[in-house]
Amino acid sequence: MLSAKIEDQEMLNKLIRKEVSRLKPYLAGKSIKEVCKEYRLERVIKLASNENPLGVSSRVKDVIRQECQNINRYPDQLSRSLKTDLAEKLNISDDMIIFGNGSDGLLKVIAESFLSNNSQVIIPYPTFVEYTFVANLMGSNLIRISLDDYHQNLPGIAETVNSKTSLVFLTNPHNPCGTIFSAGELEYLLDHIPEHVIIVIDQAYCEYVQDPSYPDVLKYIREGYPIIALRTFSKAYGLAGLRLGYAIAQPKIIEIMLKVRDPFNVNHLAEMAGKVALQDQRFLERTIEINKRGKAYIYRELRRLGISYVPTEANFILVNVGVDSVVLFNRLMAMGVIVRPGKPLGYPNHIRVSIGLPEENKYFLDCIDKSRA
Ligand SMILES: Cc1ncc(COP(=O)(O)O)c(C=O)c1O
Repeated sequence: MLSAKIEDQEMLNKLIRKEVSRLKPYLAGKSIKEVCKEYRLERVIKLASNENPLGVSSRVKDVIRQECQNINRYPDQLSRSLKTDLAEKLNISDDMIIFGNGSDGLLKVIAESFLSNNSQVIIPYPTFVEYTFVANLMGSNLIRISLDDYHQNLPGIAETVNSKTSLVFLTNPHNPCGTIFSAGELEYLLDHIPEHVIIVIDQAYCEYVQDPSYPDVLKYIREGYPIIALRTFSKAYGLAGLRLGYAIAQPKIIEIMLKVRDPFNVNHLAEMAGKVALQDQRFLERTIEINKRGKAYIYRELRRLGISYVPTEANFILVNVGVDSVVLFNRLMAMGVIVRPGKPLGYPNHIRVSIGLPEENKYFLDCIDKSRA
């Protein structure tokens, strides 16, 4: 009887929060396994989610093996051991850090802490989809400020902020463009917006940045600006499957977020892996080096093929393929290369490709060349 009632859509429509009824579930791309099966391929390379092509540090694998024996116990609620290590590394106090189940988990904590259906939220457009998701979840009013030549328009955002604005989401480097805003641009924004506005600066790809004009966000946080920096172990540290991200902000902001987050939002293996990943400087250096070389190689080859791209500071490149990205995406997938089509990201004629291992980059470029024939 109960299931008959649950199937009654009208009843569910009355129960569901109106903000939730408007949401669309997140659609992740296909996995390597799914594509192998669907296209009957022996080998598939995934250059779609900006993961670490080197895999996982062997020291992290060792600690996970060791720590498996402790997972009958709840994790440390505040991940104190990891927090102390990270605070020391970043030269900040422990009370300026909160960990989350990936930075995605922290985006939700930020929204639940600071947004309601009266809030106005400003985002650059296009941008990483999760900002729209969490703002819609809270029923907030979203204002989109278009990118200017693939760059976030910080003066445009500063002009739009008003007394009703609660929060601005920025990404540095930007996803999907890979571009950055400079310290000067950030200072202009900070000088032109009122104190009550929280600025979230998502730095998921900060470890890869080479441009010296990249702002040291921690400096502005230490000075007391209402900035929340978001970072992750999913990319350069190679721990996407473990789900570990962190936010850095003034202690008063962190205190609020700690009230909202789930009690055990970081699992024990993630905390222990994070500690070792932070120590394994060699793995991080290799990651950055392989990315730098891969980027130079892909740039060179794309130029040779006459294909334009957006210069990147991250571990992915937005490539202007000049044709419907979904058509090309399907063609590449049939050849065993998974990339991200630009259409759902706001760039219908582009694809976003993660920088992989040298042989993966070469195979991707061979396939791009063939797909045009
Ligand atoms: C800009 C940006 N922020 C956040 C995330 C989510 O990272 P996490 O794996 O820490 O949830 C991603 C993942 O692709 C991203 O591109």
